[in-house]
Amino acid sequence: MSEASEPAPERGAAAREEVEVDVLLEAVYRCYGFDFRQYARPSLRRRLWRRANLEGVTTLSGLQERLLHDSSCMESLLLDLSINVTAMFRDPSFYRALRTTVVPLLRTYPFIRIWNAGCSTGEETHSLAIVLAEEGLLERTRIYATDINEPVLLRAKEGVFPLEQMKAYTENYLAAGGTRAFSEYYTAGYEGARFDRSLTDGVVFSRHNLVSDGSFNEFHAIICRNVMIYFDTVLQDRVHDLFHESLVRFGVLGLGQKESITFTSHVQDYKVLDPLDRIFRKVQ
Ligand SMILES: C[S@@+](CC[C@H](N)C(=O)[O-])C[C@H]1O[C@@H](n2cnc3c(N)ncnc32)[C@H](O)[C@@H]1O
Repeated sequence: MSEASEPAPERGAAAREEVEVDVLLEAVYRCYGFDFRQYARPSLRRRLWRRANLEGVTTLSGLQERLLHDSSCMESLLLDLSINVTAMFRDPSFYRALRTTVVPLLRTYPFIRIWNAGCSTGEETHSLAIVLAEEGLLERTRIYATDINEPVLLRAKEGVFPLEQMKAYTENYLAAGGTRAFSEYYTAGYEGARFDRSLTDGVVFSRHNLVSDGSFNEFHAIICRNVMIYFDTVLQDRVHDLFHESLVRFGVLGLGQKESITFTSHVQDYKVLDPLDRIFRKVQ
């Protein structure tokens, strides 16, 4: 074989695999309505292969066949693809900025609506609720905490987090400007640290898919962190349309530290409130 012709089979295999991924995602979308077609490809491909291995199938078309005939396989894939890594007071500086920059703006509203999109197992929602409680705003706030993934929402509603995380979460809380004893917020039990119910009394947990579901209210703040990093730019743009439509004028958008609005079509619609912690205010 000549050197020049060597790369051809590789390209062919990669292109074939790409088609298999396209077909599988299209089939999942048509059969279940979950749209992963515009999720960033490299990590998506890795996760599909991981699921294929766990299911004991050796090809992506084998995985597709399994997915279409076994809804429990689809539920497992949904968990694989939705990457639920989270933490309480993740990136403490974000919560410090929330206290100093966002809370004074929220105070001006008689009743506050916040959308915590992609809330995962609820650590973020509980962190937001703690900040609002300490700032005297929780009673007049309704938080809508949503995620694509039903099992994680059930855990979020439970509000029980692993005891072994409490040391790290206490450090995060203090770094985020917390001044109380963090242990005041939970009761340690055999099942874990059960957080005070009063934190989530005003929280509505519900399933919402950012890719395919529409706007459902007008919010004074939307917190959506570390979700869009898994989306390609077209999908990010679409979700930014949804957020822009769902925010009141002068509402606040909080993103993850690796996320931005800079390269979206809404860059002119927001003023930057905090460049490092990615907090923006809708101005038009
Ligand atoms: C990495 S976690 C981030 C959790 C939390 N926001 C944080 O920063 O700690 C990403 C979450 O986004 C959710 N997610 C992924 N795709 C979604 C979609 N299309 N609609 C709504 N939530 C989605 C996942 O289920 C997961 O819980």
